[in-house]
Amino acid sequence: MTRVIERSIKIYTDKVDPLYIVKHARIGIIGGGQLAKMIAQVAKRMSMYVIILDPTPNCPASTVIDRQIVADFKDENAIRQLANECDVITYEIELGNSDILIELEMNGFSIHPSAKTLRNIQDKLLQKQILKENNLPIPDFMGVETKEDLLKALEKFGYPAVLKARFDSYDGRGNFVIESKENLDEAIKFLKNKKCLMEEYVPFVKEVSVMIAKNSRGQVVRHPVVENIHKDNILDITIVPARISTKGIKEVKYVADATLSVLNGVGIFGIEMFLGKDDKVLINEIAPRPHNSGHYSIEACSISQFEQHIRAILDFPLIEPILHSPAVMINIIGEDDSNYPYAFEGIKDVLAIPGASLHIYGKKITRKGRKLGHITVLDSNIESAIQKAKKCRSLIRIEDISDING
Ligand SMILES: Nc1ncnc2c1ncn2[C@@H]1O[C@H](COP(=O)(O)OP(=O)(O)OP(=O)(O)O)[C@@H](O)[C@H]1O
Ligand SMILES: [Mg+2]
Repeated sequence: MTRVIERSIKIYTDKVDPLYIVKHARIGIIGGGQLAKMIAQVAKRMSMYVIILDPTPNCPASTVIDRQIVADFKDENAIRQLANECDVITYEIELGNSDILIELEMNGFSIHPSAKTLRNIQDKLLQKQILKENNLPIPDFMGVETKEDLLKALEKFGYPAVLKARFDSYDGRGNFVIESKENLDEAIKFLKNKKCLMEEYVPFVKEVSVMIAKNSRGQVVRHPVVENIHKDNILDITIVPARISTKGIKEVKYVADATLSVLNGVGIFGIEMFLGKDDKVLINEIAPRPHNSGHYSIEACSISQFEQHIRAILDFPLIEPILHSPAVMINIIGEDDSNYPYAFEGIKDVLAIPGASLHIYGKKITRKGRKLGHITVLDSNIESAIQKAKKCRSLIRIEDISDING
């Protein structure tokens, strides 16, 4: 924010007009996917200037932003250019070049959340080590680089165990569950040219998460605890409020607060957790950005996760979110193995359902496991919201349009 104020002072030498600052805040986002699109939609509502850095010219955010730098997320020159053209840099993915971002941060550029925090989180092993050093509850883990390491870790954890790529993985793509001895060869293959960690398999009762935000004055606010159901390692459904005990909610909030207290930097963070028997909480991982499990907040809360993030990174007041209605979010995810241009069929049917909001990300090509959109359903009864959301999802068909496209 300091750079915004400095620039405004240069423009208005007599006095700083806060409205002018808001209007002219230039936000740079690394990544131009659906999260960047939804961050930008809030920023544009307040007439801010938004630049994204993304290698794909027609990426989801491209239709709502002011300018795109088309380059790889790790491209040093592109990141420097982004820094020079905006007042604050944030990110919607953990794939950015944290070395360059750390250097820029040390030279006075505003990177939120802090580039050092990004570095600590983008390496899943380092992230776990930091949580462990701070006595936060996590599944047992071990760094694994060689076949020998793998066998040693399996001896410790037994079957099943979860092998995870340390870097650049998301939507479960970097995870491999070693079910039994029969998967061993596959696991060794998975490990080739990839630094990994192995985790004990957690027999959780539920997966839950919390969006929690902090600004530079130390103000902290939390969105409600949500329940997440995954399919094939990818988030499928989010249910809010989470159907867990009052004690469970208390534990989850406590762990979320404790986790945030060891993270430097401002912005919104998604804390993914496993809830076990007796409401025991283990942290799965941290996302230093808005998160898929917080999308429901656009329709269901007094403030969305995206606006909270913008407020945090610009050092504006944060608002304690109020949940207006129970809600269920269901993802629309590519199903077929092959990649092809597509169109959604059934849109009108979903739009005819009261309480349902359809979000289409605008990705041109579908592929298996790719998030293409989501639907949020509000309903005073949570079970009926779940049924409605599933119904909506079944109404949407992903049609191959390669023929039409030629
Ligand atoms: N140790 C574990 N025990 C049991 N299940 C696990 C474990 N680790 C991960 N999973 C399952 O796999 C899912 C994805 O794992 P994880 O969050 O590590 O991957 P990711 O690629 O970062 O996913 P995302 O981008 O969706 O957050 C988890 O939400 C959970 O359902
Ligand atoms: Mg995850």
